[in-house]
Amino acid sequence: MHRTLARPAFDVETVRKDFPILQGHVWCKPLVYLDNAATSQKPRAVLEAVDRYYREHNSNVHRGVHWLSGAATKDYEGARDKVRAWLNAAGREEIVFTRGTTESINLVARSFLRPRLKPGDEVLVTEMEHHSNIVPWQIVCGEAGAKLSVVPIDDRGELLFDEKLLTPRTRLFAFVHASNALGTLNPAKDLVRAARARGIPTLVDGAQAVPHMRVDVRDLGCDFYAFSGHKLFGPTGIGVLYGRKELLDAMPPYQGGGEMIRRVTFEKTTWNDIPYKFEAGTPDIAGAVGLGAALDYLGALDAEALHDHEATLLARATEALSAVRGLRILGTARRKVSLVTFDLEGVHPHDIGQILDQEGVAVRTGHHCAQPVMDRFGVPATARASFAFYNTLAEVDALVAALGKVRELFA
Ligand code: ALA
Repeated sequence: MHRTLARPAFDVETVRKDFPILQGHVWCKPLVYLDNAATSQKPRAVLEAVDRYYREHNSNVHRGVHWLSGAATKDYEGARDKVRAWLNAAGREEIVFTRGTTESINLVARSFLRPRLKPGDEVLVTEMEHHSNIVPWQIVCGEAGAKLSVVPIDDRGELLFDEKLLTPRTRLFAFVHASNALGTLNPAKDLVRAARARGIPTLVDGAQAVPHMRVDVRDLGCDFYAFSGHKLFGPTGIGVLYGRKELLDAMPPYQGGGEMIRRVTFEKTTWNDIPYKFEAGTPDIAGAVGLGAALDYLGALDAEALHDHEATLLARATEALSAVRGLRILGTARRKVSLVTFDLEGVHPHDIGQILDQEGVAVRTGHHCAQPVMDRFGVPATARASFAFYNTLAEVDALVAALGKVRELFA
């Protein structure tokens, strides 16, 4: 018999069995988890890797000659290798483990940008950023007498990018790869190219992109790329900063402490090599191990099939939600990741969230840590259903049915 080496076809019901929490119930209803943009659920492989690490290898890294310390170091550095391969970074030293996207961006703001900023300089961001990609820049701009400039967005939630916004005073262009509030998938490669042509460094906030697509940092050409483990089916408390080696090498440390030093005296301290220069203190070893396990898990799935499945979920949700009376979708970009943000005429988003919760449907309501986006659309808050590859069409239908109940209650 002819044996095929092709991967098995993507079957969402099979995949769901890998996620114990998805088998659960809330308020006696099956859980319909549609808050994946806030954090995604963890496959058993991740839970077991973290558990195994603590049971069998728990020790501190880079510090001991004993066997356990060696095992923990191997686990931790092995995770770094997995991230390097996942992002196609040129070298493992370009992968810095952080607490998450927010810390990665703060690191760049403090260590890369702050020393370069002079009064009158500019940092370019976009109107669709979440707070983590606004506030760190704002803080260092405030200290240096520099200012933020902003790429506006149109009514669909697409960037109105004009190269003239990249001026001789622009010291960094920081933009989101995929918007958490609108779902817009930005043309990251084109934006990076425009900045590079003017010698302007770029930071891409990939928190909402990596759960939906493979990212190749060398193909993108960006200088920095930030993401969180917990949105990528890994643990909370671990994140990644990718930075180009020349830049990381030239940057001063972000925090002081153990691990980031080469030699300490009371007169002078010298720094460790990258990436350790940026990893002061005992790192989140178990978090890194869990993230590595998440990448292994994802790597064994068919990326194209996942993408197609999510596209189907998004299309179905967009169509069905558009038909709900009084519902308006915010964010109708031509290229989106699988999330739908909406408001419902006459109903506060928090009421939507609570009624959906009673039906077992978890969505996020509020400003999504992106108040400028809310201001742009003239709303204080919205509801957001965000999908992962393990969601089903039946769950989209459950969302729509639950929204029908909201409509009945607020008729
Ligand atoms: N940034 C995360 C979200 O969009 C927390 O929900």
